Amino acid sequence: MRPVIVRWRMRGCARSASPLGSQCPPAPRTTRAARRCPIATVAGSGTSTTQALQFAESYVTEDLVLRTARSLAHEVGLDAVTPGAGAALRLLAAAGSARAVVEIGTGTGVSGVWLLRGMRADGVLTTIDVEVEHQRIARRIFAEAGFAAGRTRIITGRALDVLPRLADGAYDLIFVDAESTGFAACVDAALRLLRPGGVLALNGTLAGGRIGDPAARDVETVTIREAVKAIRESEHWIPALLPVGHGLLAAVKC
Ligand SMILES: C[S@@+](CC[C@H](N)C(=O)[O-])C[C@H]1O[C@@H](n2cnc3c(N)ncnc32)[C@H](O)[C@@H]1O
Repeated sequence: MRPVIVRWRMRGCARSASPLGSQCPPAPRTTRAARRCPIATVAGSGTSTTQALQFAESYVTEDLVLRTARSLAHEVGLDAVTPGAGAALRLLAAAGSARAVVEIGTGTGVSGVWLLRGMRADGVLTTIDVEVEHQRIARRIFAEAGFAAGRTRIITGRALDVLPRLADGAYDLIFVDAESTGFAACVDAALRLLRPGGVLALNGTLAGGRIGDPAARDVETVTIREAVKAIRESEHWIPALLPVGHGLLAAVKC
C-alpha cells in the first residue's frame, strides 16, 4: 500500500536546513510564536552556547514520518516538540519501560510518535486533545509510523474534563504539552495518576528564555514560573529542568 505521507504536503520542513529553523518561524519576539521559541534561539545567547544547543537538538534526527507530522503541525499553527525534546521523551519512556503513558496535547502526533518509540511494545499511549482535527491527523501519523490502533487511546476533550476519568496510580509517564494556564491542575492530576517512580514531563517550561528574568511578569511566564517552583519545592517530586527545546521539566513521583 502506498504510504499516505507521500500524498501530504511538506511545507514547513523545507524552509530551512537548520533543524531549529524549521521549528521556529521568524517573528518578532513579542508574538506568541516568538515566546515559544526554543531556548537555543533566545536573543543574548552566546554563539558557542547556541551552536552547542543546536547540535544537541539535531543529535537524534527525525525520520520522514516525524518530519511530516512536524510539517503538518506548522500547517495547522502548532508548535510540536523539538527533536531534542522528542528524543528526551523517548528516553524517559524507555528508561522507565513505560507501558501506560498519558499525553495532554496530541497535536499532529510528533510527541506521540517519540513517546511510542520509547515505550514497551505492548504499551498504550492515552492522548488527549480538545481539537478533533489535530487528532485526525495524529491518528494517521501513528498508523504511518507503524503503530497498531490498539497502541493508542485517542480521547477528544479538555484535559481537565478527561483526566478525572483516568485511573489512580495506573500510569508510568505523563506528558503535558497544552496551555500553560492548565499546568498546575495537570500537575495535581499527575500526582494522582502516576505510580510511585512514574515521571511527569512538562513542555515549555523555560517560557522562551524568560523564566529566569525577574522583570518578565506576563501571565504566561508567571504561570510557568509558579508551576516549576511548586514542583521544585514539593516533597512529592524529584525534578530536573532540561534545557531542550522549549524547556522540558521532568520530575519523578516519590
Ligand atoms: C503545542 S500543541 C501539542 C503538540 C504535540 N504535543 C506535539 O508535539 O506534536 C498543543 C495542543 O494542545 C491542545 N490543547 C490546548 N488546550 C487544551 C486543553 N485544555 N485540553 C486538551 N488539549 C488542549 C491544542 O489543541 C493543541 O493540539
